[in-house]
Amino acid sequence: MDFVGSHILSVNQFDRSDIEHIFRVADEMRPYANRARITHVLDGAILSNMFFEPSTRTRVSFGCAFNLLGGEVRETTEVKASSLAKGESLYDTARVLSGYSDVIVMRHPEAGSVAEFAKASRVPVINAGDGPNEHPSQALLDLYTIRKEMNSRGRSIDDLRIALVGDLKYGRAVHSLCKLLGLFDNVHYQLISPPGLEAPENITKELSRRGHHVDEHHELEQGIDHVDILYVTRTQEERFPDQEEADRYRGLFRVNQDIYTKNCEPNTVIMHPLPRDSRAQAQELDDDLMQNPNLAIFRQTDNGVLIRMALFALVLDVAGEVHNHAKPVTWYTAKRFGEGA
Ligand code: NCD
Repeated sequence: MDFVGSHILSVNQFDRSDIEHIFRVADEMRPYANRARITHVLDGAILSNMFFEPSTRTRVSFGCAFNLLGGEVRETTEVKASSLAKGESLYDTARVLSGYSDVIVMRHPEAGSVAEFAKASRVPVINAGDGPNEHPSQALLDLYTIRKEMNSRGRSIDDLRIALVGDLKYGRAVHSLCKLLGLFDNVHYQLISPPGLEAPENITKELSRRGHHVDEHHELEQGIDHVDILYVTRTQEERFPDQEEADRYRGLFRVNQDIYTKNCEPNTVIMHPLPRDSRAQAQELDDDLMQNPNLAIFRQTDNGVLIRMALFALVLDVAGEVHNHAKPVTWYTAKRFGEGA
C-alpha cells in the first residue's frame, strides 16, 4: 500500500510486503526510542491524540512516539471533556480536529467509529481501537515481537504455532493479530476461550479458507502444550451487556508458572497485550511468571513505541529523513530497550 497520507484503520489494509516495510522502518527507530539519538524530523507537526476509552500504554506510547520524532501532542481523553458530549457528530469533530493537526490517533468504544471519523478527516487517522473490532497498531507490535522472539530461536513467523487464550469474542487485539498472522504460511491457531467467548466465525472461517490450521478449545490445558507463543488476554468486562454476565467469566483461565511448567514446551513465549487484570479473582497472567525469561510482555510494550514511530514516519512521509534531522543525546539516559520481560 501507499502509506503516505493514508488512514490506518484495519489490518486488512496490509499485505506481507507492507508489514516488512513497517518493520524495517521500526528497526531504524531503535536508536531514537533508546535515547541514543534524537531527531527533529517532525518539528512543527501536531498530533491530536483522542482517546474516548480508558488507555495507558496505547495513548502514552503514541504520544511518546510522536514526541520522539520531534512533533507536539494534543490530548483529549474523555467524551465528557469534548463536544461529543454536547451532541456533536463524529463528522463535525473530525472536520474541526483535522484543521488543527497533521495526524489524528483515535480510540472509541464503537466498532466502525474510527473509520466513520476518518471519512471526514482531512489528515491521516490511525485507529487505536474501535470497540471490539480492531486494534491494528497492537497487532503490528505483537507481530514484531513474535518475529523477534522467533528469530532469536532460529525460526520465522511461517509455521508458527500460537495459542490465544481468554476473551476471544470481544478482544480486538486478538482479532487484529489473528488476521495479520493469516498473511503468513501454515499457522497453527489454538483458540482457547470459555464457552460463549469464542472468536468470531468470520475470522476463523477466513483463516481456515487460507489453509491455516484452526483448533478451538474450552479448556486451557487442552491447547497450550505444543505452541511457540502463548498469548493470554483479559476478559473485556466493559464490553459485556451487564456486569453480572461479566462476573461469571472472571478468573476462569489463569496462567501461572505451575500451569506453564506442567503443560508448555520449555521455550514457549508468553505474551499479553496488557493491561492484565491483577484483581485477586481475575489474574489471567500470574505475577509468579515475572522471573520467567520467556515472559515477553514488557518487550511488547517497548516495541509499541518503535511500531508507532514507524507508522507516523510512513503516513507523514519522513521515513527516509529521520537520520538527516538527528543528533546525539547529551543528557543522562538509562533507557535500554527490549531487555527484561
Ligand atoms: C488492549 C485493548 O485496549 O484492546 N489494550 C491495549 O491497547 N494494549 C487489550 C485490553 O484492554 O485488554
